[in-house]
Amino acid sequence: MSNPIFGVIFDLDGVIVSTDNCHYLAWKRMADEEGIYFDRTINERLRGVSRMESLEIILERAQRPYTDDEKQAMAARKNAYYVELIGSLTRADILPGALDTLSYLKERGVKVAIGSSSKNTPIILRQIGLENAFDAVADGNAITHSKPDPEVFLKAAAALALPPACCAVVEDAKSGIEAARRGGFRAIAYTPTPRRLTNADAEIHTLTELLV
Ligand code: BG6
Ligand code: MG
Repeated sequence: MSNPIFGVIFDLDGVIVSTDNCHYLAWKRMADEEGIYFDRTINERLRGVSRMESLEIILERAQRPYTDDEKQAMAARKNAYYVELIGSLTRADILPGALDTLSYLKERGVKVAIGSSSKNTPIILRQIGLENAFDAVADGNAITHSKPDPEVFLKAAAALALPPACCAVVEDAKSGIEAARRGGFRAIAYTPTPRRLTNADAEIHTLTELLV
């Protein structure tokens, strides 16, 4: 029999809020300026991947090598474009079912947290009005190892004062599912569009499927 779940740790981008298009547009602008081919299929590979690792994936199509300083500057430029775009996020960008699911879990005394690779987590939560909605927030500013390393989820569980075995992680990215499993969490794959995430303990297509 599996452990009872006392905490749910949500990934942010693609689970609580729809930022995929903002990431795509910001990387696309940077790539176009550099003359590097980039499209939405490549963008799918960036889901759950850190900013610098995302840049390395984009640079697979580059015509020349880039120095570390150039890479830092490109990542900073992309982030400036991204921050400009997420400045327009509102409560309407919260993904379907997220608010109901959070209320349901809280009413039943289940702790809720964010476990996100994004260093922009505080800005995004403020934009969508959820800055006080979680019992704990662990994000890209607090970690040294990105998903698939479990660090961000372990930090979130520690902040909830719960062992990983008593927490579920809800993730839309392969790297996040792997991180959850490596950390000893129950891994729930959230795939609103048909996209199988192997290795998950369960797969849901709407967040309200958690309301059972
Ligand atoms: C993840 C996104 O949540 O955060 C990735 O899925 C993104 O696409 C990563 O690269 C890092 O985000 P940021 O905001 O720190 O550049
Ligand atoms: Mg995600």
